[in-house]
Amino acid sequence: MAKLKLAVLISGRGSNLQALIDACADPAYPAEIALVISNVAGVQGLDRAVGAGLPTLVIDHRKYPNRTEFDLEMTQAMEAAGTELVCLAGFMRLLSEAFVAHWHDRMINIHPSLLPAFKGLDVQARAIAAGARFSGCTVHYVRHEMDVGPIIVQAVVPIHAGDDAGALAARILAQEHVIYPAAVRWIAEGRVTIADERVSVDGAQPPNVGAINPVP
Ligand code: GRF
Repeated sequence: MAKLKLAVLISGRGSNLQALIDACADPAYPAEIALVISNVAGVQGLDRAVGAGLPTLVIDHRKYPNRTEFDLEMTQAMEAAGTELVCLAGFMRLLSEAFVAHWHDRMINIHPSLLPAFKGLDVQARAIAAGARFSGCTVHYVRHEMDVGPIIVQAVVPIHAGDDAGALAARILAQEHVIYPAAVRWIAEGRVTIADERVSVDGAQPPNVGAINPVP
């Protein structure tokens, strides 16, 4: 069967891009990366893409008069590459309303908190400061409002008493690398539907466990 064509949008390290590259290396994985776009030149994520033999493009937002023109350039490049699903992976630009509308239900994001809690930036430090006992990560469809949109999958991690933001971020990141390729797989397999802005994944089961932190 034809593989789902992905465009991955990055601005930096690209460890989630790497997780998708690794998943796509399995011949049985139902998606392939058609294009990697970075708005920043020289980032580690671009090296990862080139190392994997993927087509890359740097579209520097500073060279465009406004967000609309920048977004249009990305859409044109992604369409030329046959993109069917856009995966935001540490892409640090806000997106125009027209861009989000154009890719409606065809664009997903990964965020390092349990949405709808802790939208925005510095979320690990904010979760610790709030005294939360758990945090995690979320893969969701993109809507115009930042870090809002139908949730496909979440992973939970405990927050430890001695955690700083870096320690928590690392614990969450390990789960990001599991759930992002999983979400893409489900979409590629045609198992994901959205109704009333809620997602169901055909054939996927919830875990039969809860978790308490600290353990009584
Ligand atoms: C991840 O924590 C992701 O959840 C957030 O930005 C970070 C990107 O990391 N959206 P990487 O570039 O994938 O390593």
